[in-house]
Amino acid sequence: MTDLPRSTTDPLSTWRRTADTAVLLDGFHALKHAIRFHARVPVAVTTDRRAALTLAEELAPDVRDTLDTLLTQVPEATYQALVPRPHPTGIAALAERPEREANLEALRRTPRTAPVVVLDNPRNLGNAGAVIRLAAGFGATGVVTTGTLDPWHPTVVRGGAGLHFATAVERLTVPELPPGPLFALDPEGDDIRGLKIPDDAVLAFGSERTGLSGELRARTDHLVSLPMRPQVSSYNLATSVAMTLYHWSATGGAPA
Ligand SMILES: C[S@@+](CC[C@H](N)C(=O)[O-])C[C@H]1O[C@@H](n2cnc3c(N)ncnc32)[C@H](O)[C@@H]1O
Repeated sequence: MTDLPRSTTDPLSTWRRTADTAVLLDGFHALKHAIRFHARVPVAVTTDRRAALTLAEELAPDVRDTLDTLLTQVPEATYQALVPRPHPTGIAALAERPEREANLEALRRTPRTAPVVVLDNPRNLGNAGAVIRLAAGFGATGVVTTGTLDPWHPTVVRGGAGLHFATAVERLTVPELPPGPLFALDPEGDDIRGLKIPDDAVLAFGSERTGLSGELRARTDHLVSLPMRPQVSSYNLATSVAMTLYHWSATGGAPA
């Protein structure tokens, strides 16, 4: 076990100073992923340092030493005052949100080696988080949302398990979408099983309530469907993204 130096600045004053603009990492797994994907984490607290480091030794030895440096033990009441809802692991941290310009550059960079996922006016924060987790797992270039939902909302970050730092996540309007052939997913489209999704595709999915917007449809190059029995109206948004990314990976695209 390496004894790394501990931060000497007061973690609670760092928390108070940065909380308004930072991203809350709620629980061990969110902090672990953020560290793995190079998030800048100015402050991390736990109600039990020993338990947190033991968890790291068991589940994620690669981040154990970083956690040892970062984590400050605070009383239970202090921890509870910092988070909206206590996490079973008693760990919370703040991370700096990546620069929007850097994310936009990553989203627009060509040639692209993995698709961008677009959620067209999504409504459900849990779905958005699940999609960001999927995009991270498949090595997608990024996740773009249109409409009013904030893809960096704390509930989305919680659903994404800290994987916002593993892909480029931004909100844009339809005219601002990144370049690339636009494949929009809709039950009325051509069967995906007969198609190869190119690495530079922009993969768009409609809102849970109303499906694809007229504005998105107008920009679509290919309307694509997922296999589904006739009596079923549609799949859940996040499961549709999962099937489409899986199809991309199974037909040649691959996680890094
Ligand atoms: C819950 S569905 C939307 C249902 C909505 N009531 C509608 O009118 O389309 C959310 C999104 O998942 C995708 N989706 C769901 N089932 C699909 C299927 N069988 N084929 C292609 N895309 C599908 C589409 O992008 C759809 O807009």
